[in-house]
Amino acid sequence: MSKLFIVANLKSNKNENEAKTWLEAFKKITLSQEIISDKEVIISPSFIHLNLFRDFILQNNLPVKLAAQNSSLFGDGPYTGEVNAKQIKDYADYVLVGHSERRSNFNESEELFFKKTDIAIAQGLNCIYCVQGKDSKIPAGIKLIAYEPVFAIGSGNPDTPENADTIAKNYLDINNSYLVLYGGSVTSQNVASFTKKENIKGVLVGGASLDPEEFIKIIENA
Ligand code: PGA
Repeated sequence: MSKLFIVANLKSNKNENEAKTWLEAFKKITLSQEIISDKEVIISPSFIHLNLFRDFILQNNLPVKLAAQNSSLFGDGPYTGEVNAKQIKDYADYVLVGHSERRSNFNESEELFFKKTDIAIAQGLNCIYCVQGKDSKIPAGIKLIAYEPVFAIGSGNPDTPENADTIAKNYLDINNSYLVLYGGSVTSQNVASFTKKENIKGVLVGGASLDPEEFIKIIENA
């Protein structure tokens, strides 16, 4: 059985002081071995805080991995403002690709996500590939899919666990080695209703992860 993936997507939030406060609070609440042993906890801060998070995690021996929220369509080169997969690899094991906020705010397309995925995988990153419905094409080499319906993101109105499970099953029917996560208004109150579903292997948490205590509760309750 695979581990349950619990991913915190901090999005474009927190300055350095706030990020440090988040980390200190997260560290204070010790996660018991029993709680953590069957979970892969991943935190995805802003690029600018990856270094801070990596060093803090190493110094405090925290049982968490890091993800970048995006990666460049290019490798090294004259691409002002971009952060590429080779650079990310120094800090993180994972990268989010295809988030609906990249689609809606930055006009990024599926074609572009496929290219980003190829580059990220070639650099040894694990992509968490976000889809909004049941019919998305999935790039080659993807193992982790996050089903995140647009209506549920940041709305306080999650999909039903039953529907999320059905959608996860659709992807598993295409390739049964996929691990499908659910994202969209996950909280400590509703997380178990998703993670106890047969086909859902974890959650991608946005708003509720901004509070480290709530995020710990999500990990505990999952
Ligand atoms: P939310 O965001 O938990 O705030 O709905 C989820 C996401 O966008 O990854």
